[in-house]
Amino acid sequence: MKIAVLPGDGIGTEIVAEAVRVLNVLDLPFEMEEAKVGGAAYEAHGHPLPESTLALAKAADAILFGAVGDWKYDTLERRLRPEQAILGLRKELGLFANFRPALCYEQLTHASSLKPELVAGLDILIIRELTGDIYFGQPRGRRIATDGHFPGAEEAFDTMRYSRPEIERIAHVAFQAARKRSKKVTSVDKANVLETFQFWKDVVTEVHKEYPDVELEHMYVDNAAMQLVRAPKKFDVVFTGNMFGDILSDEAAMLTGSIGMLPSASLNAQNQGLYEPSHGSAPDIAGKGIANPLATILSAAMMLRFSLQQPEAADRIESAVRAVLSAGLRTADIWSDGTQKVSTREMGDAVVAAITGKTIITKTTKS
Ligand code: IPM
Ligand code: MG
Repeated sequence: MKIAVLPGDGIGTEIVAEAVRVLNVLDLPFEMEEAKVGGAAYEAHGHPLPESTLALAKAADAILFGAVGDWKYDTLERRLRPEQAILGLRKELGLFANFRPALCYEQLTHASSLKPELVAGLDILIIRELTGDIYFGQPRGRRIATDGHFPGAEEAFDTMRYSRPEIERIAHVAFQAARKRSKKVTSVDKANVLETFQFWKDVVTEVHKEYPDVELEHMYVDNAAMQLVRAPKKFDVVFTGNMFGDILSDEAAMLTGSIGMLPSASLNAQNQGLYEPSHGSAPDIAGKGIANPLATILSAAMMLRFSLQQPEAADRIESAVRAVLSAGLRTADIWSDGTQKVSTREMGDAVVAAITGKTIITKTTKS
């Protein structure tokens, strides 16, 4: 088994280093190879997704990805920006199925911006289509308008589009995932306004006929955004397109109070997957050793479960994470009174200790 390790930018290198240490103590037969991606690759090779990095990713069974992006690249032309690396990997590897669990850890309930009773025990799974929609639809670009409100004016445009097979395959993913949970799917669309999402709704309804044991509800995206902060526990599998999924997954992650804790997986039809934390590269805290490595460590667990067929190893990592939280260890992002503030490295050490059966060392760190 081969794992491509792509740490990327900002806190990416620090958090991926901890996940790699955790993977190494599992004593499993896999090989890890590291390559640059994002801004780091642009600096070294002049491109955010160099051929060599892409080749490594394609040849691997799974990719462990950190994060990409930094404000200092905002002025680069679009094709050279760090974000193009992750978009390019999704497209080139066909990673159409994105799983973003939003879980509220009982130890962190108070960290949510919502009242504790609204989020206690929250466990939703966002399934986002990841290679279609307005993100990749052609044509797109800039031109001089020939119609609209201001003919003759400069304008920009993107294309929202979904084909039937694209919707069908992700709908199957969503219904099958729901079968392993509480058998309820909320398909989020904007069918009241957009042709693309009326089609989405129609195709999802058709595919649903094959899953009579799963309950399907349709919801407009604006309402879904509202219901997510009003009564998030009413949701189980939230299933949507690329653009709406981008927005709703950040919303859902934040309301758990633990964005530093949330992993994600992006799979293709061959179960090859890219695993990354749900949060970004946080350049403002990069290099300070204070980032939370748990989302990346939990992404490594998802990788073991989904792409490397090592469910027991995945369980070991997830139990270790719960153990360190229960022992009161917290990085700055999830720290609160009465818990112990630790660095990125110390958090990694604690997870390694929990996995290898050593006592988790707690000491008083200056907060
Ligand atoms: C995400 C990110 C990406 C996206 C960016 C970095 C291109 O926001 O994974 O949600 O928009 O999909
Ligand atoms: Mg996003």
